[in-house]
Amino acid sequence: MLFPVIMAGGHGTRLWPLSRQQHPKQFLPLLTPHVSLLQSTLARLAGLDIQTPLLICHEEHRFLAAEQVRQLPDIQAQIMLEPEGRNTAPALALAALYAEQQIACTPVPHKAEDADAIILALPADHAITDTSAFQAAIRAALPLANAGKLVTFGIKPTHGETGYGYIQCGEAITDTTGFEVSQFVEKPAQDTANHYVASGEYYWNSGIFMFNAKSYLQELVHCQPQILAACEAALAQSERDLDFIRLHKEAFLASPNISIDYGVMEHTPHAAMVELNAGWNDVGSWSALAQQLTPDAQGNTLRGDVLTQQVSQSLIMAEHRLVAALGVQDVVIIETKDAVLVAHKDHEQDIKQLVAQLAADG
Ligand code: GDD
Ligand code: MG
Repeated sequence: MLFPVIMAGGHGTRLWPLSRQQHPKQFLPLLTPHVSLLQSTLARLAGLDIQTPLLICHEEHRFLAAEQVRQLPDIQAQIMLEPEGRNTAPALALAALYAEQQIACTPVPHKAEDADAIILALPADHAITDTSAFQAAIRAALPLANAGKLVTFGIKPTHGETGYGYIQCGEAITDTTGFEVSQFVEKPAQDTANHYVASGEYYWNSGIFMFNAKSYLQELVHCQPQILAACEAALAQSERDLDFIRLHKEAFLASPNISIDYGVMEHTPHAAMVELNAGWNDVGSWSALAQQLTPDAQGNTLRGDVLTQQVSQSLIMAEHRLVAALGVQDVVIIETKDAVLVAHKDHEQDIKQLVAQLAADG
């Protein structure tokens, strides 16, 4: 049985000041009017043979998440609340343990392959333009996940991006469209990333994974036993609160803070890759967002009340005031009610540090 898990606990700090701690990017309608990235992620599953999706997020976003699910017709989701994020390796440990519990309560299935809980782990904040190609890749990955592989979905890289994981593609796996993974490297340095792309042997990791819950839990026994112990305890002592599953705080906070990429994928010998060619974009930066919105003849993406002269290759968004720009290029200007960002595109990855300084300054 396929259990989609939506990982929605990130901060989206590189999209500050639109993305805020109270309202991170996955909850924003960044690409489609009135539809958040989270809602698009759920809607993209329509037509697949799935169990009720599990959404895992920070408890401070519980009402936002519940309301966004409620707005979607014919879609339900179980919501699990983390008292504080411990990154994706623990979030997916919780998902795997939860799915195993669900399977244990389900009557014996007709088809042998339905006896296992297969997790489809989805970031809540990505754009995918071709839903049918996405679903075809999901179906192609199922036999591999059933066979015990930890499947990653690889994207043909276009440049040396340091914010991604890199998958070195190995031998084709017989009778499937998948490949062995020779090496998985999370967020390499710029030179290494450039070298990987030039070699033609590497794919970007999309951040979407599929695996048998048992296989993932087994990997945690080897690579991350403390995560497993903390998540087992947090789930065993969890409480149902309205429609939410609220984890036991102290138990969960004992978990190490590490992503599945660093914590598991870099170490497992059981990784496999299926190529994903579905118009994927992780909307991880202002430029990535601008790429998704059609620019004008000067290469500008302008939203709201914006006036420009001799401006090119820029992204300018005005929420509350007129923004006028003159004689600039390659800039990002984001105006919101209480904060304005002005940045050169070359520095957009540093917005994380800017937000960290803001938080430190209080
Ligand atoms: N529930 C929960 N709890 N979700 C989380 C947490 C957490 O503590 N931390 C992050 N997430 C969610 C984010 O909201 C996002 O949807 C997803 O998990 C991935 O986290 P990011 O923090 O956005 O990861 P990344 O972008 O740095 O890297 C990942 O994605 C890249 C592609 O976009 C990695 O998988 C890379 O290898 C990959 O290339
Ligand atoms: Mg991301």
